[in-house]
Amino acid sequence: MFSPGYRLLRRVIGTYAALDRSVLRVHTALEEAAHGVLSRALDARERSDLSVYLGARANPTVRSTLFSWELPWFQSDLPPPPARLLLGAAGSGREAAWLTARGYAVDAFEPARSCEPRLASAVGSLGRCAFGSYEDLVLSVLTVEASPLSHFASERYDAVILGWGSLTHVIDPDMRRNLLQAADRLSPHGPILASFWARDEGPPPPPRRARAAGAAVGGWLGRLRGRSASVSPHDGFRTHSGFTRPLARSELEALAADVGRTCAWYADAYPHVTLRRRP
Ligand SMILES: C[S@@+](CC[C@H](N)C(=O)[O-])C[C@H]1O[C@@H](n2cnc3c(N)ncnc32)[C@H](O)[C@@H]1O
Repeated sequence: MFSPGYRLLRRVIGTYAALDRSVLRVHTALEEAAHGVLSRALDARERSDLSVYLGARANPTVRSTLFSWELPWFQSDLPPPPARLLLGAAGSGREAAWLTARGYAVDAFEPARSCEPRLASAVGSLGRCAFGSYEDLVLSVLTVEASPLSHFASERYDAVILGWGSLTHVIDPDMRRNLLQAADRLSPHGPILASFWARDEGPPPPPRRARAAGAAVGGWLGRLRGRSASVSPHDGFRTHSGFTRPLARSELEALAADVGRTCAWYADAYPHVTLRRRP
């Protein structure tokens, strides 16, 4: 027979576990509802800006080393140092610090201003850093409109890296294609290395009621604000990273083909691809 002390503890833990599950259900429902509202009430530019804002506020622990999946990828797929690289979504310079320490010259950009001091120090004197998004890069490379990244547009690189998970934050399919086109133009002969969140090829998960309710409110707000943006049932929203649209393998292969490149897919711990110019 168990002791009264243990039985009391078991009851307390049982109550805590029930409470924990309720809190989790409320948390998920609120996040889904926020996703529904925001995805319909904001346009693509606003959603992109909000993702950067939320990511910077989440104040992630700054790692100083590469992940175990990045190390062999960089070692095997990047041209050897002292190659010249363009690194997008560079954050506080985690990848940049590793690359410059190995003798690469790295130009880097990142939309979150709060990353500036660390990123500038990681890039060092051989490269430049600037504050802008992938959308800014597309503007300056493909449409020659001025953007904070304009000075990168006339450069040529031995490779382009779209840093850790970042392609997932470009949710508009046309913008993704434009981004790869811009990267292709900046590194016409070099590889494009891209990291993202992957999804299965199958159908999207069934719609959640909280998201649908939020979307009804957001649709009304969007009409009131004169805003619209593409929405996919595959989209996600997290309060620490904003909007995401994970990519299926077939989507990446199609994007690569659109810019005349092959797609080497690595599906280990964190999905990533290397796009190389077709021979
Ligand atoms: C997971 S963090 C990775 C940061 C850095 N590469 C690292 O590995 O430490 C994703 C980064 O993508 C950036 N980001 C989000 N949306 C972006 C966009 N539209 N264009 C460029 N960067 C974006 C965020 O600001 C954030 O720094």
